[in-house]
Amino acid sequence: MRIVMIGAGYVGLVSGVCFADFGHDVICVDNVAEKIEALRRGDIPIFEPGLHELVKSNSDAGRLSFTTDLQKAVGWADVVFIAVGTPSRRGDGHADVSYVYEAARQIARAASGYTVVVTKSTVPVGTCDEVERIIRETNPDADISVVSNPEFLREGAAIGDFKRPDRIVVGTEEPRAIAVMTEVYRPLHLNQGPLFFCERRTSELIKYAANAFLAMKITFINEIADLCERLGADVQKVARGIGYDKRIGDKFLHAGPGYGGSCFPKDTLALVKTASDADSPMRLIETTVAINDNRKRAMARKVIAACGGSVRHKKIAVLGLTFKPNTDDLRDAPALTIIQALQDHGAEIAAYDPEGMAGARALLSDVEFGEDPYAIAAGAEALVLVTEWDEFRALDFRRLHATMKVPNLVDLRNVYPPQEVRRHGFHYVGIGKGGDRDGHRD
Ligand code: UDX
Repeated sequence: MRIVMIGAGYVGLVSGVCFADFGHDVICVDNVAEKIEALRRGDIPIFEPGLHELVKSNSDAGRLSFTTDLQKAVGWADVVFIAVGTPSRRGDGHADVSYVYEAARQIARAASGYTVVVTKSTVPVGTCDEVERIIRETNPDADISVVSNPEFLREGAAIGDFKRPDRIVVGTEEPRAIAVMTEVYRPLHLNQGPLFFCERRTSELIKYAANAFLAMKITFINEIADLCERLGADVQKVARGIGYDKRIGDKFLHAGPGYGGSCFPKDTLALVKTASDADSPMRLIETTVAINDNRKRAMARKVIAACGGSVRHKKIAVLGLTFKPNTDDLRDAPALTIIQALQDHGAEIAAYDPEGMAGARALLSDVEFGEDPYAIAAGAEALVLVTEWDEFRALDFRRLHATMKVPNLVDLRNVYPPQEVRRHGFHYVGIGKGGDRDGHRD
């Protein structure tokens, strides 16, 4: 199959490279010339484990190339994926689909022969209908089908998720398009999760429903964690106890500082907006959004309580800035809100992150960035673990104890068993550890 990916951002790049790895011929198109030149040199604009190697091997094999020439690429393609950004529109929370519609106009002018146009970007319900209308209006002779095919990739695990999906959702009822999409995904559905065909609007809604459900699941366990702290229970054991029930499942039940990232915050807001516009409000998701927003500031209060009620003129060391490990993405990262709230209370912040510091420098002011956990811990009155990078899972507590002013660990990801940390003479506060000796410090 000849596949064109419009938009060499996170989703477009990962999907394009993986399609090439399955043996399809793929051209990734982007209108940012510097990005395309960098990709041609093998420089990857994002941090994603395994991506660099796959770009190189597939480029070397001649199956993957990069261009700014949309016209030529689309004319060559059997299938054109639209994978451009759909950021939250300032002011109203709606997803901004103007880049998607612009891509549709350009595809309409360039398509030649039967072409399947696929929206991969997360788009509000009804966007595919509008894409089709735009294409038919721009070029009434175009022989196209418009299909919805949402992605469910997690940053940091995107290549594995693409190659071993739980399911592939394709929204189309047209037999020709079904045949093409079956061919595109043949390498996957031969031995992996099901290829699930449904109507376009259903497919568009599946993406929002999936992300909103997961955001709600995380928020549920976060509230249970708060309750555990009041009632003397342990949230990790509650999560395990309910997770054994297959109807609930054990995934996405890790209590923490609140969800962040490029998808959950944006998609929950967009769903709330769509639902209220459709006069079918989603109160559960509205509440999820509000609880999650409050939670990040509540985490700062937890740190302040762990420091005896004040952080004024105290050095606080923050471990982890990205919204999750194995990414350099700082979008809606809890660490940013927590740091700002602590600074508002007079704290001096030192921070370390394996991949996020370059981005964080542009977003935060008055933060001292160190080269490792021990450098930032020197003289600190609390070490706050915000993102569970692997390299934070085996900290040398003796070394930390020797360098910190007050040996105090606030573990917002429950990485460490409290007793283990206390054995080294530390105060320990985790999340939802109500039965724990120091868990009531706040
Ligand atoms: C998510 C979806 O998982 C993916 O299917 C979709 O396509 C895009 O959005 P991503 O944002 O990359 O992927 O990361 P994910 O691993 O889902 O984590 C999202 C946020 O939830 C992170 O801030 C993470 O720390 C948090 N989280 C996740 C928890 O706090 N607890 C959990 O149990 C799981």
